Parts: sequence; structure tokens; C-alpha cells
Amino acid sequence: KEILRTSYRPLPYRVENVEMNFDIREGETIVESTLTVVGGVDGGDGNNDLLLDGESDALTLLSISLNSKPLSSSEYKLTPDGLVIPSSLLPPIGSKQQATIVTKVKICPEENTQLSGLYKSGTMYCTQCEAMGFRRITYYPDRPDNMAVFSSVRIEASKKDYPVLLGNGNRIEDGSIGDDRHYAIWSDPYPKPSYLFCIVAGNLSSISSSYTTKPSGRKVHLEIFSEPENVSKLQHAMDSLIKSMKWDEDTFGLEYDLEMYNIVAVNDFNMGAMENKGLNVFNTAYVLADPKSATDTDYERIESVIGHEYFHNWTGNRVTCRDWFQLTLKEGLTVYRDQEFSADMMQSASVKRIEDVSALRARQFAEDAGPMSHPIRPESYISMDNFYTATVYSKGAEVVRMYRTLLGKEGFRKGMDLYFKRHDGNAVTCDDFLAAMADANGVDLSQFSRWYSTSGTPTVTYDSKYEGESKTFYLTFSQESNNPDPLHIPVSVGLLDKVSGEEVSPTQVLNLKEKVQTFQFTGLDGDVVPSVLRGFSAPVKLVRSTKGSVGDASADEEKNWAFLAARDTDGFNRWEAGQKLMTSLIFQTMRQEESLRTLEYVFEAFGRTLGMDSVDYSIQAYALSLPPESTLAEELDVVDPVALHAARGNVKKTIARKFYSEIRAKYDELTVAMQSINTSDIQLDAVSIGQRRLRNVLLDYLCCIKDTCEEREVASKLAFSQFQAANGMTDKYSALSCLVSMDGEQDVVSRREGALQKFYDDAAGDPLVLNKWFSAQALADLPDVLDRVKTLVDHPDFTLSNPNRCRSLVSAFSMNAAHFHAQDGEGYRFLARMVAEVDKLNPQMSSRMGGGLIQWRRYGKERGALMKGELEKLSKLKPISNDLFEVVSRGLK
Ligand code: ARG
Ligand code: ZN
Repeated sequence: KEILRTSYRPLPYRVENVEMNFDIREGETIVESTLTVVGGVDGGDGNNDLLLDGESDALTLLSISLNSKPLSSSEYKLTPDGLVIPSSLLPPIGSKQQATIVTKVKICPEENTQLSGLYKSGTMYCTQCEAMGFRRITYYPDRPDNMAVFSSVRIEASKKDYPVLLGNGNRIEDGSIGDDRHYAIWSDPYPKPSYLFCIVAGNLSSISSSYTTKPSGRKVHLEIFSEPENVSKLQHAMDSLIKSMKWDEDTFGLEYDLEMYNIVAVNDFNMGAMENKGLNVFNTAYVLADPKSATDTDYERIESVIGHEYFHNWTGNRVTCRDWFQLTLKEGLTVYRDQEFSADMMQSASVKRIEDVSALRARQFAEDAGPMSHPIRPESYISMDNFYTATVYSKGAEVVRMYRTLLGKEGFRKGMDLYFKRHDGNAVTCDDFLAAMADANGVDLSQFSRWYSTSGTPTVTYDSKYEGESKTFYLTFSQESNNPDPLHIPVSVGLLDKVSGEEVSPTQVLNLKEKVQTFQFTGLDGDVVPSVLRGFSAPVKLVRSTKGSVGDASADEEKNWAFLAARDTDGFNRWEAGQKLMTSLIFQTMRQEESLRTLEYVFEAFGRTLGMDSVDYSIQAYALSLPPESTLAEELDVVDPVALHAARGNVKKTIARKFYSEIRAKYDELTVAMQSINTSDIQLDAVSIGQRRLRNVLLDYLCCIKDTCEEREVASKLAFSQFQAANGMTDKYSALSCLVSMDGEQDVVSRREGALQKFYDDAAGDPLVLNKWFSAQALADLPDVLDRVKTLVDHPDFTLSNPNRCRSLVSAFSMNAAHFHAQDGEGYRFLARMVAEVDKLNPQMSSRMGGGLIQWRRYGKERGALMKGELEKLSKLKPISNDLFEVVSRGLK
């Protein structure tokens, strides 16, 4: 059942046109599909039968006809995963003749707990077809290289229960049938693969707006739908959509191409959102926002996901993937585009870069270091849904960013233009993208193509030396990766004078193409400090060569970090240098080494940053934050999450104690500054967001001082008063996060429990707020957190069938590393039990959750054995889904 990238074969027959009819009735929906089939390409292996994919678990075939004649069951073959019509019944491959196939199937959306295909979420019907959900709706060549015009999709349902009926493209007709039923017919003029198909039927409210495209002047009707109680939370999404449309015109000259753009918010959804042509479907968590229920991060994420799905209209829909191994062609490119969009919407691009690289390191580096490691263009899969990964998405975006770095802004744009000119309306490959970039710029990118076939995170090591006589600075790089041949790595470098601190050589991009390569910088009057990999110009681990005496090298290195943390002109690398110092201190603390020198550097950098009268509060907040445990863990061969947590906690406390009064003063200063904005309405501009971000980082430092009874009293009072005074979710949730990890005296406990109760009551049943209530508790740093989580599983508001809710408790707990990895293995047992239960409902969910156990090799002997034991139990589940089977067996291999 394993599918290989190299086994791609073109379609012997292609569906050219589709007409569908959905007759939606409670407990039974009838789907009739009329497919116009034409000859495709002879595969040359003698088998040119037409395969219509279809999952027998989901579809009941009622009838099938070919060219208006019913087919008898001996004329076709029905298997668990499809229906085969022999080529002998169809026109010859080369001819222009058409054949018409009509199928009628029965499906049951109400019982579809996998949330793939047509399913019911609350009171509405909706679809999710990527990657292979369409085969759970009808029999069809369900692969992206079959691009067809869906000329007529008719949806019929109860008028009272489902007044809104939506489809792809434009609405061409609607009307009533008797008193209680109605229908709508949708038509999409653009050929598309089946994974972009969508219908929705529900009792929905909406907000609308319009946008006139440039330069064509097409007036587009924009509408965003949700359940009626959420309609007041849609404005931010609408604003974001309009910004996205304008940005894509300004940046890439790409205009929207239909009369309508609809978005629907759905409660039960496996992923973030889906770019169906003209009809995006969004997880409510990525579209609904008001200050009472959404944090600043939620607002930012909504803007970026709205952008992401909108940008897919060109990078994904107009030009799509030939086969699923090419997924990064559309996802890597579209993530890159949404990152650039967000950066342009922000005060400073460095903030966005810091956030994106942090996320890459925390998730993608971990993936690359474990058994699910794969190149951005995978070589094989059992379930494609398992490859919607941080690697395909985030590392894929880094690969696209490298083209931009190598070719420059104009060169990249030329490549994009040529890509659309060549491939608009087609299903293509990563090689086609690379060829467009290369040809448009007249450059050779054949070595660069190795990024598509290399798994794992490459390491780049550098060494430097200054020669006074020749005034020359030498930078020598060596690279190591899973590829026997060297990669083409863009390394952005700037040089700062060691004495004056001035930048004497501004950023330039070095083309590292050899295993070992030396670059020279001439005309330098004195020694310099290099700032290497500026802006994180390649997704690699960068290390300074430790030749010679190890102690000396690292002393020198730390000195450079301290220098760069204070002076680098590159915002990203300035932050990075500070993080390196903190990382170094945390590891020394963990190994119980003498760390006075490092401590001095960290104190110096922290004190300076804290004292800055900030131009950018967000940068300041990130510079003061310690690297997360997940990123720190990536640097270790064997991870002891408990020890790592303790070491990081100790460093945090040491800093907090040293700077307590300054931190407190800054916190109070921000409190006053924020109150003086004379309004109770929350402000969502970059400055206000930055102020809250900084103030909450400071709160976190202040609240980690809780060793004595008095300290606990002070900390819990401070967090509790922020909790009570909060005028929006950001401050409220941050305060709650501090409170949930506090224990001890009666007053301390009652503040914690009081806040939790108040948070719950204020939620008034709002599912997205309740998710936060579950998450805060799952992420708490209390010795009995697992017992609390287990109790919450039985809470009336908890359910495994809603992915957001399930993630908010179970997945959140599995990311609470020090407790999930508790020595007794109870965390592993708990997760495995949940995974087994979820697998019966929703394989896409269970396999994601199961991913929490596959890294067992990295957690030492005892923990490793316990994790592996749970994986082995899961591997014996009967039945087990393909999705979970693939993850578990990779984990055990
Ligand atoms: N194409 C969607 C997006 O990135 C994600 C769909 C993922 N679907 C899945 N079954 N894994 O916007
Ligand atoms: Zn996407």
C-alpha cells in the first residue's frame, strides 16, 4: 500500500467535464455524477483501464451507466478502493471521442467522523476533499492531474434547515421545490482537480463586502459565513481578505478571477483552512475573532491564514500539483507568500522572521531529527494526509525563500511571472518551478535542486581568520547533510569592525556550493566580527568550528555573540546572538558547570535590552525571552526534558531575581502607558500588540519567583490583578497561564481556582474560549498536572470528536514536555490510550497525536523503552487506520 514518487503514470483517460447533483436528506444523501471522459496518455504497460477512485466504506453504488446504457456488474470491477471500467468499453486512447459515465451513490455525511469528504459539523453540511476526500463523495479519478470543469453542481436540501447552499465558482441558478425544499446550481469556469471541490449547506449568517481588482476592474462580491451566533466575529477576517487581495496585486501582479469569493467558518475541521476554488472553508479557530475571545496571536494568525488561502488561488489552484509528492510546490510557495504578506503588514519584518524561524526550529527541526524525517518532496507515502507536515510547509517555504535570496527581488518576480506564463491551468512539478526560476534569470539551479531530495537538517560549520598584512578576512565553511553531494546554500554575511563596532561590510550573499569553501574579504583595516547567516538565509544548523582548545573557542564565540547581541545591524541575527548566549547558559546550568562568564554576558544583554526605550516592543519582548524547551532540545543528542525544564527554569529565575525591580518598574510603566490610552476598547495596532507582548514576558519573569510564602503571595496577586483588569484575551490568557502553575497557600490556590472558574464562566460556552481554558490547564507546571488532565477528559465540555477540543487538551498536554515525559511513563500511557480511541473516529487526528511518541530514540534508555512500549501496543490495534499505521510503523522501524 506504499505509494512511490517514481511510480507516477499519466492518466489513460481524463475526465473533462463534471455535472453533479446532491440530494441532501437526513441520514442519506444521494450523489449523482455525470463525467465526460476523453482519452489521455497511453501508459505503455498494456493497462489503460479507467480507474474511478471510491472508498467502499463511504460509498454505496446505486447505479452506473456508460453512454446512457446501464452497466451490469460483470462489465466493471468494484474493489474496496475504486471502480475499474475496462478500456475495451471506452473509446481508443488516441481518439477525440468522448464517453459519458453516470454514477449514483448513497453516502451518509451524518456518520462521517473522519471529517474527510462530505460531513456534518454541528448543523451544517460541508466538505473537505484535500488530499483524497472526493473519493468519499463519488467515484472519480481523484488525483490532482485530472483537471476538469465542474460546469454544474446542483445542491438540493431542506429550505428551513439549510437556507444557504454554496458551491465553487458562480451561482447560476436557484429556486424552490414545493414548500420545504430548495436548490442552487453552481458553476466553476476554471478547470480544477477534485481536491478543490466544495459544497456547503447550512443555516448561516454572513457579512459581505466587495473588492475591485486592479488593473482589470472586476468587482468581486466577498462574503464570509458562520453560524449566526458568531457573525459579529468576522470583520477581522474580511479586513484581512481585502488586504490580501491588494497585496497580491501589488507584489506579484496577481488578480482574483471570479465574481465571488466566499469563506465559511466550520467548527469541526482537521486542519487550519482549505483553499477550495471560490469557496474557502476555515476552521473557526482561524477566522473568528473579537477582543474578548481572541489573543493578539489569534488575530495575527487569522490574517496570515486568510492570506494563505487567498494566495493559493494562483499558487495551488490556477497552477496545481501533478501528483501529491509535489505538495510543497503549492504549500511551500504559499507559506512563503503568506509570510511575506504578514511581514509587510507589520511594523518590522525582523519580528516576523524571528517568529517564523522559531516555529521552524521548534517543529520542523524536530521532525527532521526523528523517524518521520523526509525531503520537502517526499519519496513515498501510505497515507498522504501524514505528509501535510512542517517539512513540506515550513521548510518548503525556506527553500522558496532561498530562490528569492539567490535571485534577488526582481529576479524572483521574473521567475514567478514565467512560472505562471508557462503553467497557468496546468498540474505541474517542483522541477517545473525550478526551471522557470532558472530560465527567467539565465542561471543554473541544478545543484540547488538537491534541496528537494535531501532529508534532515544540514549543518554548516564556519571558521574565520584575519590577516593584518593583506588586510584580508577569510571565512571558511564546510557543510554536511544527508546528501552525499554538496548543497547550494546561500549564506548571507555582514562584517563588523571589532574595535569600532561599525559595519564595514554590508550583507552579501555567499554561494556556498562546495563541501569546504573559503571566501575572502579584502581591504579591511582591522579585525572583524562576522555576522553569519543573516536573516536565517538557509534552513541549516550553523556552528562555529571548535578546532583547537574547546574552552578557548567557546570563550571567543560567546564574546562574539555578546558583541553581536549589542551591535548587529541585522535584526534577526542580533536576536539570534542573544538566544545563543541564553542557550549556552541553560546548557551549562543543566550540566552544572561553572558559568560565570556566560552569566555576565546574559546579564549584560538582558539589562541593556530591558533598559532600552523601545522602538519596537515586540523585538524587545523576543530578545528578553529564553529559547523554548523544544528548540533547546534540538541541540541535544539525548534529551532529559525534566532536567532541561529545571535548568531553563533556573536561568529564568536567576535573571528575574537579578533584575526584579527593573522588570517590575518596566511592567508598571507599561501598565500605566496602556491605561492612558483613553478607551476601554482594545487597540490592535503593532505598538499596542508589542506593548502587551513585552508586558506579558515581564509578567512571566515576575511570576517565576515563587519559592517562599511571601513570594507566592506577591506573584499570584500580581497575576490575579492583571487577570481581573484585562480588557482583552491576550492579557487575560497570559495572566491565567501564570496562575495555573501556582500552588501552595490557601490564598494562592483560591486565586488560581477563582481565575479558572471566572474564565470558564466568562466563556459562556464559546468553544474557542473553552479550548483556551483546557489548554492553559494542560500546559500548567504543577506536579499533578496529568491527574488534572485526566479529570478534564471527563468534563462535560470535553469531546474527542472535535479536533480543536481534542488538541486543546490532549495534544497540549503532550507538548508540556517535563510532565508528558514524567519518569513513570504515565504520560505516554495516557496519550496512547487517547490515540487508540481517536483512531476509531478520526485517523488524521490519531496519527498526528501518535506523532508524540515516535521520537523515543532521543529520550534516553528508560523513557525510550516506555515510549516504544506504547508504540508497540498501538501497532497491534485492530483495526488500525492507514494513517496511524504509517506513523507508528515508521516510529518502530
Ligand atoms: N491545503 C490546505 C492548506 O494548506 C490544507 C489541507 C490539508 N488537508 C489534509 N487533509 N491534510 O491551506
Ligand atoms: Zn496551503
